[in-house]
Amino acid sequence: MTVRLEASTLPLELPGDDLAPSHVAIIMDGNGRWASARGLPRAEGHRRGVEAVRKTVRYARERGIDYLTLFSFSSENWSRPPAEIAELMLLLRLFIRSDLADLNRKNVRVRIIGTRDRLNPDLRRLLHDAETTTRSNTGMTLVIAFNYGARDEIVRAVQRIAAAVAAGEMSPDAIDQTALTAALDTRDVPDPDLIIRTSGEQRLSNFLLWQAAYSEFVFIPTYWPDFDETAFGAALAEFNARDRRFGGVEARARPR
Ligand code: IPE
Ligand code: IPE
Ligand code: MG
Repeated sequence: MTVRLEASTLPLELPGDDLAPSHVAIIMDGNGRWASARGLPRAEGHRRGVEAVRKTVRYARERGIDYLTLFSFSSENWSRPPAEIAELMLLLRLFIRSDLADLNRKNVRVRIIGTRDRLNPDLRRLLHDAETTTRSNTGMTLVIAFNYGARDEIVRAVQRIAAAVAAGEMSPDAIDQTALTAALDTRDVPDPDLIIRTSGEQRLSNFLLWQAAYSEFVFIPTYWPDFDETAFGAALAEFNARDRRFGGVEARARPR
């Protein structure tokens, strides 16, 4: 006889002991406005933003989040002034150089999504190193979306599938949601449960369009450099108060 595990037989949690979402994705927005409000150059906002990244990785690990995705540079951000683009590239490079060893020690697995073809070979090598060094880590996965755009990701996935079909390795009938999901940059990452956007803007800006089908959204007015543990905790509390129905008629039973 096969015994099926129903939600009600999963380990119980004490009332009020909220479950952390497994995957939190953040659109880190508002660095420029944070700086302008203080009469500082936009670059200063980006630098302070890196500090917020470090803190957020720590809070996420402390709260037992399995996957943290950070939107750091979009495929549309190339339309910014060259000096700002160069600053953002430099900050990613500095972050990896200074933090990779520590992330590795903390058993964090680093994944980078997006395209690397327009990136400087130096940076590409660094991103490759970050992924290979931490590949076997079993703690939190930190996904950095850099030069990432969801439409670009979907087009590249479709190209991969089309190439497999043209090579006779795949039949068109085998193209389904699982096949497309497996061809995306996020193939080894589950869909985000919660997407947070800072700075008061309420849009996706080409972030995880396919993966966000059933994500919960929390928009907060705080500019990214000011994002702190209180703001993070409030977003998680808001997530926990939501009923996720996934198209059904009542909230999916959650193990509590
Ligand atoms: C987010 O802050 C960082 C990136 C998009 C790289 P912004 O640079 O977009 O800051 P605002 O939105 O102009 O304030
Ligand atoms: C989205 O922010 C991209 C990142 C946070 C990296 P933007 O500031 O680029 O988005 P828009 O232009 O306001 O939509
Ligand atoms: Mg912005």
